[in-house]
Amino acid sequence: MKLLEITGGKKLTGEIKISGAKNSAVALIPAAILSDEEVTIYNVPDITDTEALSEILLYLGADVKREKESMIISSKNLENKKIPNSYAKKLRASYYFMGALLGKYKKVEMSLPGGCSIGARPINLHLKGFEALGAKVTSKNNCYKVEAEELKGAAIYLDFASVGATINIMLAAVRAKGKTIIDNAAKEPEIVNIATLLNNMGAKIRGAGTSSIEIIGVDYLGKCFHEVIPDRIEAGTYVILGAAMGDNLKVSGIIPEHIEALTSKLEEMGVPLEIGPDYIIVSRGDHYKPVHVRTQTYPGFATDLQQPFTPLLTCCDGNSVIEETIYENRFNHIPYLNQMGADIRIKNQTATIIAPTNLVGCDVVATDLRAGAALVIASLMAEGITKITNVEYILRGYEEIVEKLRNVGAKIEIREI
Ligand code: EPZ
Repeated sequence: MKLLEITGGKKLTGEIKISGAKNSAVALIPAAILSDEEVTIYNVPDITDTEALSEILLYLGADVKREKESMIISSKNLENKKIPNSYAKKLRASYYFMGALLGKYKKVEMSLPGGCSIGARPINLHLKGFEALGAKVTSKNNCYKVEAEELKGAAIYLDFASVGATINIMLAAVRAKGKTIIDNAAKEPEIVNIATLLNNMGAKIRGAGTSSIEIIGVDYLGKCFHEVIPDRIEAGTYVILGAAMGDNLKVSGIIPEHIEALTSKLEEMGVPLEIGPDYIIVSRGDHYKPVHVRTQTYPGFATDLQQPFTPLLTCCDGNSVIEETIYENRFNHIPYLNQMGADIRIKNQTATIIAPTNLVGCDVVATDLRAGAALVIASLMAEGITKITNVEYILRGYEEIVEKLRNVGAKIEIREI
């Protein structure tokens, strides 16, 4: 198991370059199967989630060439066999292999993990979409078999604008016969990134990024070159860190519009921000006003950023409130923040951050990816030394986090224990 040891209280200055988006890359990699030729994806982040997906591709017999920032995938020799739990359980996004293998071979069999620490995370909307396209779904002990004589376009309404369901249905529909419409589709930038990859292969998808996506099925998808968009959640995490400990900290290689809900909330607090075309420069301000945050689907305040945002609110001149509306259990970082000296109270899906309070380093545990990010920010703010265990969660979604933080002045060590 890996541990991070962080000495807090140091001002952070310099530049952090943002990597490719985890939540795009984990869909683009399985989606490459849909092509009948070679697919090159640039700016793939080197994180454990993308490694896990490459392993699944290799297990299936696909050819995968990983160069520094790119991945070249060919499914010419792929054998569509059952994906065992040992591979699938490494990340929830392995479920994108369902849409991709169903879309290409009209059959997929794989185990999927149940819920995780942030919630039940069912896949009922994914399966509803597959069935609407003509597939039969059977499952036993979390092992799903989805197959279809023929996949036919359909009109599908999502009860919730689910990111995963929107993408998975798009993957299954792109080679179906006829037209598919996905209504109440998710509008996250990652959806647009996947649709652009598929259209670059020769698919006919319109409306990605809006709540209604139209897909006209095609018989053939070819070679393409594509780029992963910058990671808006990684970017937001480091901008929040800059608001807490920055001295002209520059977060670069980003699309500022993708984190507008965050930057407008930071400006409301009084955080000094300079927003450029592809960067944000941020510093710790003198006084911060308390705020009320309610997580929503894009373009609202991202649920993935409410956890990293929480420690910053301990600096406000007054009490702030965070309402988590997307997941039922996304406050597991809070007991550890309170152990560090915060005073945060939870009632149902709402956290109230009593502020200002001072944070003091101690031993804490990462319970999930973004909880871990929250603890890293709190540790860098805190007086003294913090040890964070279960750091593997953090390495799933933050490429070279130790190097990036060291380069801007953080005192941070990672080691095996
Ligand atoms: C994606 O998860 C992201 N993961 C999550 O990021 C992110 O928090 C989430 O979208 C919301 O933005 C990836 O892209 C790999 P959803 P996903 O389907 O697709 C319920 C991170 O930290 N739901 O939009 O699983 C579900 O239970 C991760 O990077 C159903 O009920 O999110 C949840 O409450 C965490 N039935 C809500 O919708 C379904 O069939 C949001 O889920 C599907 C989802």
